[in-house]
Amino acid sequence: MTQAQVQETGVSPALQAMGIGRPLALLAELSHRCPLQCPYCSNPLELDERSKEMATKDWLRVLSEAAELGMHQVHLSGGEPTVRKDLEELVAHCAQVGLYTNLITSGVLLDERRLGKLKESGLDHVQVSFQDTEESNADRIGGYQGGHRKKIEVAKLVGKVGLPLTINAVMHRQNLEHVDDFIALALRLGAQRIEIAQVQYYGWALENRAAFMPTYAQLQKATEVVESARERLKGQLEIDYVVPDYYATRPKNCMGGWGRQFMYVAPSGECLPCHAAKCITHLRFDSVMEHSLGWIWSHSSAFNKYRGTEWMPPLCKGCERREIDWGGCRCQAMALLGDAAETDPACSLSPHHKDIFQLAESEAAAAPPPFIYRRLRGSSVEPP
Ligand code: SF4
Ligand code: FES
Repeated sequence: MTQAQVQETGVSPALQAMGIGRPLALLAELSHRCPLQCPYCSNPLELDERSKEMATKDWLRVLSEAAELGMHQVHLSGGEPTVRKDLEELVAHCAQVGLYTNLITSGVLLDERRLGKLKESGLDHVQVSFQDTEESNADRIGGYQGGHRKKIEVAKLVGKVGLPLTINAVMHRQNLEHVDDFIALALRLGAQRIEIAQVQYYGWALENRAAFMPTYAQLQKATEVVESARERLKGQLEIDYVVPDYYATRPKNCMGGWGRQFMYVAPSGECLPCHAAKCITHLRFDSVMEHSLGWIWSHSSAFNKYRGTEWMPPLCKGCERREIDWGGCRCQAMALLGDAAETDPACSLSPHHKDIFQLAESEAAAAPPPFIYRRLRGSSVEPP
């Protein structure tokens, strides 16, 4: 590697020696504020308050740094990113510095005028999440009355203003039998793509795991429906599908490997290798208020901790898949085993794998407990 190449990539030689180049995408969590209260929210249990949110000028700088670092894509997310009044300004800046923008939204705060303004500012793509296809159950899960109806309206407007649409369908035992209806809804709304993802158990979802875990039989049935729809709708609707880790045989290649592809910036400016990384409490996360994204990518101890294969336990180190799945998910190893440096127990080679399979089956067999809603931590009261 020549000095010129090092300068050109902007990535430290240590990273390049591990085969790591520039990050692909930034997930910008603009705000943790959100009118919904989904009990599977991927935000951390300790949410950043409004007073901690970065100012417009700081986000503009971070987005410029993302482009300088060679990223191509930014996901504007939250909480609910449309609570930010400066969203159009941030989108316009992304367009100016050459970043493709994907807005991940619940949709409930949008209308045709604002969508039009976002489109004019240069927004490239919109993802709208749905809690269910049945109105009353969807509003119950999201903890927001009238939310489902509003989402349908907004999803139609996305196409009307000329933006491409992806539907996010988060699946679990309380809506899994509607998987076919979700696909039909995506077609009706004119979506190009649907992401059907089983709940991943981190943060709020881990607190609510027993309320969401399907049985293995339920999961198999849903998988069959998805596979046949994929065949039937080839060329018409792209269907992405994610199964729950607890029933997997090999772990997912989480985040494309720790610190290899993505950067997350929380509303307060903390920069993480993945959205759930705060559960690994011994890590120290650097802030974009103190360091540039480029410095963090190359030098942050949190990013370097589980990069490559050196940190791996002997089981993964000696495994032929070590550079395919990178040992699975660090947050899951932490959540289930209390040690982020363990093999992800979603791997069937892990001595703990059978325990999590049994745990999932026994939780799924019992009646679901009441939700613990995001923002109502500790409460089991369902909102009216
Ligand atoms: Fe992946 Fe480790 Fe399992 Fe091998 S042992 S498949 S590297 S998690
Ligand atoms: Fe954090 Fe998998 S969710 S590494």
